[in-house]
Amino acid sequence: MSTSASDAIARIRNAPETSPFVVAQLGQSLDGRIATPTGESRWINQDAALDHLHALRAAVDAVVVGIGTVLADDPGLNVRRVPLAAGQQQPARIVIDPSGRLPADAKLLTNDGAQCFAITAHDCPASPPCEEIRLNCRDGSLCPKAVVSALFEKGFKRLLIEGGAMTVSNFIEAGAVDRLHLLVAPLILGSGKNGLNLEPIDKIDEALRPPSHVYVLPDGDVLFDCDLSATRANS
Ligand SMILES: NC(=O)c1ccc[n+]([C@@H]2O[C@H](COP(=O)([O-])OP(=O)(O)OC[C@H]3O[C@@H](n4cnc5c(N)ncnc54)[C@H](OP(=O)(O)O)[C@@H]3O)[C@@H](O)[C@H]2O)c1
Repeated sequence: MSTSASDAIARIRNAPETSPFVVAQLGQSLDGRIATPTGESRWINQDAALDHLHALRAAVDAVVVGIGTVLADDPGLNVRRVPLAAGQQQPARIVIDPSGRLPADAKLLTNDGAQCFAITAHDCPASPPCEEIRLNCRDGSLCPKAVVSALFEKGFKRLLIEGGAMTVSNFIEAGAVDRLHLLVAPLILGSGKNGLNLEPIDKIDEALRPPSHVYVLPDGDVLFDCDLSATRANS
C-alpha cells in the first residue's frame, strides 16, 4: 500500500498529452451508495477525500458531469480546496446535456474565467446558456468516446468525469476511462442510489479486477486508484 494520495494525482499530471487521458471518480459509502433515497449526497466523504477531489479538478483540463448531477446538486465544479499553480486557469466545466436542460442560473456557469460547454444532441431543440458542442445521439445516448474526442479537439486533453453514477458508468462501459478514483467512506447508508451500474455478468471471472493502488486518507476514507487502461485498450 502506498502512503500518499499525491502519487495518484501525479499519475494524471504525468500522462502523455499526445492522446486523451480520462480519470473518473466517485465518492461512495462502504455499501457502494452515492446518495440517500432522497438524493442527499453531501457529504458522504470526509475532508481529505474532498481535498483529493479538488486536487483531481486541479490536475485536469476539464471537469465533466451529467446533467443529472447539475439538477440534483448544482455544483460549482471549480477548484477551491487546494491552490492552483501560479497562472493556472480553473479547469473548463462540461455538462453532458443531450436535450438541453441546463438552467441559465446553474452555479457552474459563474463567470470566473473558466470555459463552460454543454454537450447536446444534434437534434436538441434548445440552445444552452453557454458554448455548445453538438454530437450524434443514438437511442438517446451520446457515445462517450465521441465526447472525449470532441473535447480533445478543443484542447482538453486530461478529463475528470466527476459524476454522477450514470455518466461514470457509461464512460467505463464504453471503455473510455483510463483510471477510476473510488473514494470510499467508512459509512453504511443501507439504502439509496448505487454508484457504478454496469452490464450484468454471470461469472466472477468476468468481473473487472483492475490493478489498483490503495491509499488510506488521514481521516479514514480510502482511495482506490484503479488502472482501467486494459478496458480502454480492448474496447
Ligand atoms: N458521490 C459522488 O461522487 C457523486 C458525484 C456526482 C454526482 N453524485 C450524485 O449522483 C446523482 C446524479 O447522478 P445520475 O446518475 O442521476 O445523473 P448524471 O450521471 O449526473 O446525469 C445523467 C444524465 O446526463 C445525461 N447523460 C450522461 N451521459 C450521457 C450519455 N453518454 N449520453 C446521453 N446522455 C447522457 C443524461 O441526460 P438526459 O436525461 O437529459 O438524457 C442522463 O440522464 C446525484 O444524486 C448526485 O448527488 C454523486
